[in-house]
Formats: sequence, C-alpha cells, structure tokens
Amino acid sequence: QASTEGAASGKVILFGEHAVVYGSPAIAAGLDRGARAVVTRQPSGPSTLRLGDGTVVADASSASDLGRAFSALLEVAPAIPPVHVEARCDLPPGGGLGSSAALAVSIARAAEALARSGETRPEEDAAIEARVLARAAAWERIFHGNPSGIDATAAAQGGIFRFTRAEGARPITPRHDLVLCVGSTGHPSSTRTTVELIASQHAKDPVLVKRSIDAITSIVGNAVLAIEAGDMRALGDLMNMNQLVLSGLFVSTSELEELCALARSAGALGAKLTGGGGGGCVIALVPPSFRSDGTRDEAREAESAARILDAWRGAESH
Ligand code: PMV
Repeated sequence: QASTEGAASGKVILFGEHAVVYGSPAIAAGLDRGARAVVTRQPSGPSTLRLGDGTVVADASSASDLGRAFSALLEVAPAIPPVHVEARCDLPPGGGLGSSAALAVSIARAAEALARSGETRPEEDAAIEARVLARAAAWERIFHGNPSGIDATAAAQGGIFRFTRAEGARPITPRHDLVLCVGSTGHPSSTRTTVELIASQHAKDPVLVKRSIDAITSIVGNAVLAIEAGDMRALGDLMNMNQLVLSGLFVSTSELEELCALARSAGALGAKLTGGGGGGCVIALVPPSFRSDGTRDEAREAESAARILDAWRGAESH
C-alpha cells in the first residue's frame, strides 16, 4: 500500500486536571471531533509532516523538538520507508481539547498501519495500541514537559473514563448522556506553563498544594458516582467546586471565570475550565430535559444549550 490513514479523538477533561499530574484520578471524555493523518510512502527521505493547509512543518531528520517528536512517531517495526504525512485537526490548537495528542495518535496509527501494509490481526491490536500510546506520550513529553498521559489515552480510545497515572483508564458508564457546551476564550493556553506554575507552588508550599489536590480527588470520586447515578444537579455543583479549587491554584483567568459565570446565569448546572487553564476553553453542563414518558427531550436540551452559547457570543461582541 502506498498510503494509510489514522484517526484519533479530541477530548475534554471533565474533572481532575492538574491533580492528575500528581497521581490523583481525573475524568475525561472523548469528542466526536479530532485528528486524521494520511501517511504516504516517498521514494527518498527525509520524512516530512504537513499540518492542515500549512507548509511542511517538520522533517524527521531535524534536531528541533518537532523534528524529534515527529520521527519518534514513525519508529515502527518493521521500519517504514521515508514518508510524507498530511495531518489535520478540527480542534482549536492550544484550547485544552487535546489537539496535540490527537495529532500524535493519528500519525502513530497511520504509521503502524503502513508498517503492516494496512492489515492487522485482531490479536495484535492491543500491542499496537500500546505502542501508539507510548509514542504519543513521547511526543507529549516534548511539548508538555510532564504529561499525565490522559490526553493521549482519550485520543486513542474516546468514550468517558476515569484515569490515573498508575492504573490508566477505566470506562465509566453514565446513567444518562451528558450534554456539554464548550466555549473558548480565543486565547491559547500553554499546558506546560500552567503545569510548571503548579509545580513551582508545590515546591514552595507542598502542604498547601496537597490540600487542593486532595479536594480535587474527593470531587472526582463524587463525580464518578454522580455520572453513574445520573445526578446532573450534583455533577454541576461538583464542576463549580472543581473550578473554585483550580482558581485557588491560579490556573484560572478573569476570562475563564466570566465564561463560567455567563454559562451558569444562562442555565448551566455547572461550569469550569477544561485542560491546562490560563486560557483555552470552558465546559458547561446543560440541564437534561425529560418528557413525561421519561425519554430525553433533545429539542429542549438543544434550546438550553443555545441559551448558553448565546450568552457566550454576547460576551464576545463587547
Ligand atoms: O492538554 P490539556 O491542556 O488539555 O491539559 C491536560 C491536563 C493536565 O492535567 C493539565 C496536564 C496533564 O498532562 O494531565
């Protein structure tokens, strides 16, 4: 085969960002948007990467961060010839929606597929996915410093899951679907910067930071129960509490706070930043609506979501 494809999802972190770096659990959900990569054999090297409609942004022979990270994604066995990679992501970069991990996983998957001429045996799948995750983690380490691995896991498997560094992902079965609005500040966030900010607070005053991490750990534990029980009101309250603790760790901004406040006044059950903070995105929980026969009233939920999105748009136009 001359070319192969790979795809991966973006994600939102529902609860537990930052604390997850210190070994606590977090909850993430895959998005139905993400990244797609096409890997095409070339007659000669070096391998090159083009992101979106841009020019070639990486070459695997370069010693730059991107060059090294890119060449690590292509280190498959059996080795593949030089390739050109076209990768696209329909998520805002630096928005905390996992675009970098989704790109890495989609490229690593396409490279694995090329090494296997597009064919895999089902018994190989788990081993291939483990290698894809390890390579995506190496890419994330270059850009993020000390990633917990939650982004790469969400990119690879989607769905909604609890994650810890030690145990990896454990799927959560929600009693009811969660409907979320995602709003962007329009300013990219640097996860590396906010992770380092908390690391420096931790170095100065470990007891204080541990108190926040412990608070987040108990919020996450309760959030798993609320999701499983379908208790959306409790879930919204827990989102607001998690936001409060994150702002106490100085990773929120006035814009993020404003987007959360607007969502709550427009009817959201809860709102918080998602991902690294310092910019990026917020998530807001849309109240569920049920018909008298107990089925979900999606049309009313869409109206509730539209009210939140309108409130955010109103803020944008000021
Ligand atoms: O990549 P982001 O911005 O969605 O943030 C990832 C979540 C953090 O907990 C802040 C970092 C990590 O590696 O878990």
